[in-house]
Amino acid sequence: MEFEILAKCPTTKARVARMKLPHGETMLPTFMPVATQAAIKGLTAQQVESLGITLMLNNTYHLNLRPGIKVLDKAGGAHKFQGWTKNLLTDSGGFQLVSLSKFTTITEEGALFESPFTGEPTMLTPEESISIQHSIGADIIMQLDDVVSSLTVGPRVGEAMERSVRWLDRCIAQHRRAGKEGTQNLFAIVQGGLDPILRDRCLEEMIKRKEGVAGYAIGGLSGGEEKDVFWRVIKQCADKLPEERPRYSMGIGFAEDLLVCVALGVDMADCVFPTRTARFGVALTFNGPLNLKLQKHNKDLGPIDENCPCPTCTSGTSRAMLHHIVTLETAAAHALTQHNIVFQAQLMGRARDAIMAGNFPDYLRTFFKTYFGKAG
Ligand code: GUN
Ligand code: ZN
Repeated sequence: MEFEILAKCPTTKARVARMKLPHGETMLPTFMPVATQAAIKGLTAQQVESLGITLMLNNTYHLNLRPGIKVLDKAGGAHKFQGWTKNLLTDSGGFQLVSLSKFTTITEEGALFESPFTGEPTMLTPEESISIQHSIGADIIMQLDDVVSSLTVGPRVGEAMERSVRWLDRCIAQHRRAGKEGTQNLFAIVQGGLDPILRDRCLEEMIKRKEGVAGYAIGGLSGGEEKDVFWRVIKQCADKLPEERPRYSMGIGFAEDLLVCVALGVDMADCVFPTRTARFGVALTFNGPLNLKLQKHNKDLGPIDENCPCPTCTSGTSRAMLHHIVTLETAAAHALTQHNIVFQAQLMGRARDAIMAGNFPDYLRTFFKTYFGKAG
């Protein structure tokens, strides 16, 4: 990949960069919508592309279960399978160690998952995770990491961090063996829970392996920890990670968190939040989230946001109409999902513009004043 820093904020750690991947350019900082099963729920790949999205996320664990590697290989990879022509990032399956923890056993060899369909055990090793991601053909692939909830305490946190470092070595070796370094970009994932000493140790070890990795993610967060602790970990990692590599905070999606992460030097983030909350009837706006299920919207013929360029807002679809169909029709979920994806893109696009123009701190101040000003 090519990664070129175009501007830096003089007062915060925020930066704008151009990332060139095999399926085109993506400007950073960016938010990546999540298409776990090779589709953003409710939208076609063409719709997502038409919203201007140039990088989205798929999940290795889910794609390996269904449709499976044979089908993906036959299709010629996940891009062709889902009709997506822009950049794709796949998460390794590591996070499912937490989200599906009832069905997993962790060993040094890999993660043993019980199939939710057959109950049959399947082992996901670091080598296999990388091989599957090679079949998927994503532009950015993630190491398999040993993930524990951010609320876990005790020796398990250190063990998971140390194992993530060892698994990174196995992922780098597999990626090299397959000769995919030129076409797919492997990212490391920094673990270590909320413990600054463990984070430092992980950073030190993973930075040593810089030649084998194209970028760094900060993992193991957004599991219910306090905000100040979360910010401290992001700051510690972003400060130490190499300047010339993209930094990706995993599982972060609230607007306020995204902007704080950007201010601390983060370039990329992903989360199911904006698309999931859309399906629950919530539209994101610069004046705060708007719950369209509430009765108070039933006579409001204005759009969600008159300045929003999304297909929902520009087509004249009113808050009253959305309120009317929100519990009745799947069209409401489509309309709100499109709006929320565009909202996240605008939030980050305006951050990039502000960093370029040298007024990012003003943008932050204005955002926080209006976002928490009046509740919807
Ligand atoms: N998604 C959110 N957090 C994480 C993490 O720590 N590791 C992985 N692989 N995916 C994540
Ligand atoms: Zn809109």
